[in-house]
Amino acid sequence: MNVLLLGSGGREHALAWKIAASPLLTRLYASPGNPGIGSVAELVKLDIADHSAVAAFCQEKKVDLVVVGPEGPLVAGIADDLRAWGIRVFGPSKAAARLEGSKGFTKDLCAKFNIPTAAYGRFSDLASAKAYVEKTGAPIVIKADGLAAGKGVTIAMTLEEALAALEACFEGAFGVAGAEVVVEEYLTGEEASFFCLCDGATALPFGTAQDHKRVGDGDTGPNTGGMGAYSPAPVMTPEMTERTMREIIEPTMRGMANLGAPFAGILFAGLMITDQGPKLIEYNTRFGDPECQVLMMRLKDDLLVLLNAAVDGQLAHMSARWSDEAALTVVMAARGYPGTPEKGSVIRGLDEAASDGVEIFHAGTAINGGALVANGGRVLNVTALGATVGEAQRRAYAALDRIDWPQGFCRRDIGWRAVEREQAGA
Ligand code: AMP
Ligand code: GLY
Repeated sequence: MNVLLLGSGGREHALAWKIAASPLLTRLYASPGNPGIGSVAELVKLDIADHSAVAAFCQEKKVDLVVVGPEGPLVAGIADDLRAWGIRVFGPSKAAARLEGSKGFTKDLCAKFNIPTAAYGRFSDLASAKAYVEKTGAPIVIKADGLAAGKGVTIAMTLEEALAALEACFEGAFGVAGAEVVVEEYLTGEEASFFCLCDGATALPFGTAQDHKRVGDGDTGPNTGGMGAYSPAPVMTPEMTERTMREIIEPTMRGMANLGAPFAGILFAGLMITDQGPKLIEYNTRFGDPECQVLMMRLKDDLLVLLNAAVDGQLAHMSARWSDEAALTVVMAARGYPGTPEKGSVIRGLDEAASDGVEIFHAGTAINGGALVANGGRVLNVTALGATVGEAQRRAYAALDRIDWPQGFCRRDIGWRAVEREQAGA
């Protein structure tokens, strides 16, 4: 098979690495890709926003499957447009990608199909949003409705913060994404990421993970796209997984089919495990980044076979097997992240740092004058397997410490919650 992978981050490097290992693969193209992806795929320059240009490339190169990494193109309808050209695509339609593209849409779906989630209100004007917040009180959560690159959520511990967040949204801090706002109840518990591979009718559980969103050790400082992750998530016991499937995922699959927008692709549920059980925080309609990196390390089956089954509506006959080992990834970021990262500093020593069971995925790198340089906020994902999360953590940091990149930084405590649990249980 010829495959085209769209995207340029660590998630896409992990997908490319796994797809490249498939005996089904003839050629792997990636656009725009990055130098790490370039070691396993042929990088091509395409304007991904120009869907007919992507379709023309697929026809010319006889591409049998397009795998879409990030949410932006999905919400823009790339899957529908390519399918209209007869091209097979792994990723949801525009209508199904509303699960990520509109928080209000997802909240209404939950209300309609009785899916446990935080109580909420949807508002398109400041005055009624303020009245709701004043009535409910703090802590409370304010969310821009649309895609805001992970920046549209404010956890307001006081009424003043909540009102300021509402004003910022309606003043255009998140552009059109904030023209509508969801205000919701503040949930407490432990968060987990739960993934399902979906074909429109069947949802196949596809791994669990926990990530660390704050930039600093001890989960402090501003939010980021994720500074590290590990899999599996200890809180997702078989019982919790079964409840999540029955109470959240299956009603969502039925609900979406009911609305004429069956969901096919990766359904990524952000969960809060509360005293009453799992509650949905949000959906994403693609793999998490960096959660994908740890999932791909643990997946024992051929990813391309599974993606094909999802595209062809054959998941009811499939299963996915996972390594018993834990995987953990540490993000190395460029100084300045999550604000404005410094670009261009030279990175050395990656070959020396990698070893058996350790993969270094590129997230934001470029080649400049023959040297590998930082070219984004999150730059590298140092990922390791281990018998326990603790062992995976030790191996990841041992590899990371061999990388020669003085301008990079990372958190030193990725996995702390699971490691503490392992130590308490030992
Ligand atoms: P989201 O972009 O919706 O995933 O939100 C980003 C982060 O904000 C989540 O990972 C949670 O840590 C937190 N969060 C979102 N909604 C809630 C909520 N209703 N209660 C508590 N924390 C939340
Ligand atoms: N790491 C969170 C996300 O990909 O949305």
